[in-house]
Amino acid sequence: MPSTSRRLIVHHEDAGHVGSISAQAAHERQENVCLVGAPSPVEPPGGHGLAGAHRASWPPRILHRVKDGAASGYLIYGANGYTGRLIARYAVERDQRPILAGRNAPAVEKVAAAHGLEARVFDLGDPAAVDRGLAGIRAVLHCAGPFAHTSRPMVNACLRNGVTYLDITGEVAVFEACAARDAEARRAGVMLMPGVGFDVVPSDCLAAHLKRRLPAATRLSLAISGLTQTSQGAAATMIENLHRGGLVRRAGRLTPVGLGHETRVIDFGRGPETAVAMPWGDVATAYYSTAIPDITVYMAMPAGMRLGVAFAGALAPLLGNALVQRALKAGVQAGPAGPSDEQRARGASHLWGEVVDPAGRRAVSRLRTPEGYTLTALAALEITARVLAGAAPVGYRTPASAYGPDLILAISGCERRDDPMA
Ligand SMILES: NC(=O)c1ccc[n+]([C@@H]2O[C@H](COP(=O)([O-])OP(=O)(O)OC[C@H]3O[C@@H](n4cnc5c(N)ncnc54)[C@H](OP(=O)(O)O)[C@@H]3O)[C@@H](O)[C@H]2O)c1
Repeated sequence: MPSTSRRLIVHHEDAGHVGSISAQAAHERQENVCLVGAPSPVEPPGGHGLAGAHRASWPPRILHRVKDGAASGYLIYGANGYTGRLIARYAVERDQRPILAGRNAPAVEKVAAAHGLEARVFDLGDPAAVDRGLAGIRAVLHCAGPFAHTSRPMVNACLRNGVTYLDITGEVAVFEACAARDAEARRAGVMLMPGVGFDVVPSDCLAAHLKRRLPAATRLSLAISGLTQTSQGAAATMIENLHRGGLVRRAGRLTPVGLGHETRVIDFGRGPETAVAMPWGDVATAYYSTAIPDITVYMAMPAGMRLGVAFAGALAPLLGNALVQRALKAGVQAGPAGPSDEQRARGASHLWGEVVDPAGRRAVSRLRTPEGYTLTALAALEITARVLAGAAPVGYRTPASAYGPDLILAISGCERRDDPMA
């Protein structure tokens, strides 16, 4: 295919890794402050902080959909990764013209050339290069993870340059780090919205919908089924976080628990499945979207995988060892980059959510969505389109706090069902 891409090499050199490492160290320091039993850095709705602004945007404004062909002015960073490539492909199929970016010149340029898009190459370790890379951009859709290493330098650049920050993280520490910068983002007039993929768009919308059904709810349980095939990047991110154990929210605080500390049998609408508590992103984000103080997230798993989680929990200290992590990541890299188109087309995800209030009332709702990576691409593009249409409320935002619980229903292939209130 003839390439019409304009190539702009902004920066690319190994020295950038020093910056990445120091950003990671800073991030990890922040994570210790945010995660272990500390109050969350931003008040959820119902307190002050985000609350007023969230209320102001609920119900969400009438949003103008970006017409196919009109979406421009955004950049996908990490566009040569499995998910970045998928999102770029879906964007082009919708006649959008995102700029594709990353740190690896040949890889990014190859993807850009295949789609006739502009490529920009810059390393996150060089702030001046990142600033040049964001020239003329209104929104960044950050797809380079693990985000513990990559989010902070990109958020910094977005705040400096007045650019909306979107990413596809599912990492609790990254959500909390972005939430901690709410005031900074408001001063900069910028929206920070990590988690515009499968983690956490559907579950965040389900949580907000349940809160709408039972406003006095004090306990939220969410569960996910159908995530069978992971990409290399997602597996690497999991490997980096396994040794941290599990995490729930109790009395509004992120509270460490053993990995897979609790098992629950859940009906996702197709019979009972056994699910294990996992530190999914909603233990961070659902609090900002709903103000519910007690949150646990479960993942449905076959018996073999549950055994693996129990094993990982027992070996947690060992899994933090750099050599062990390197060996596990090498194993992952020997496999496929991610699910094939056929696997994505065949797959589907099921979500279940339950809220309970102090009077014992209970509401249960369920969602069915396309397969996780397909949903990630669709959700990320839906939110990007809303941002480019002018709907980007400033500050730290979760998907449902910015766009309401019904955001998920705007995404093709998503259905929601409510059980009668009990
Ligand atoms: N929340 C969700 O639902 C969801 C869905 C999909 C993916 N994800 C997350 O998204 C991330 C990417 O997943 P993937 O499957 O696309 O992974 P992947 O195929 O391994 O791609 C990773 C991408 O990130 C880039 N990258 C990694 N570290 C970088 C750094 N320090 N500086 C600049 N670029 C860097 C890589 O660039 P190089 O080629 O130069 O290394 C590559 O472009 C993972 O963290 C994954 O967990 C989340």
